[in-house]
Amino acid sequence: MYSQKVMDHFMNPRNVGEMPDADGIGTEGNPVCGDVMKLYIKVDGDRIVDAKFQTFGCGAAIAVSSMITEMVKGKTLDEALKISKETVADALDGLPPQKMHCSNLGADALKKAIEDYLSKVKK
Ligand code: FES
Repeated sequence: MYSQKVMDHFMNPRNVGEMPDADGIGTEGNPVCGDVMKLYIKVDGDRIVDAKFQTFGCGAAIAVSSMITEMVKGKTLDEALKISKETVADALDGLPPQKMHCSNLGADALKKAIEDYLSKVKK
């Protein structure tokens, strides 16, 4: 049911933890199940140089969070904003249809983290 990549990112999640000096933080809850994800980004110029996450959620949500923190590193903010739930699911070699809502969490938290960063630099 789950791809090898999903299992790998679930069993060995990358970039777990808090980032005290984060430039942007995005928190997103999933109304379907109540799971919550917090995504931290570190930005240099217009590029995301580091990302971390804390997720209280299902295995798919943890795999999505782990994958998305790997995907955004080195991307410009514009490129990162193009990451959608489909892009993340594809990078994980797919998610079961009933678990697609879990990948929403990652894309939405990322968007919020970028918006949080942008709102701070504009001030
Ligand atoms: Fe809640 Fe997957 S079941 S995010």
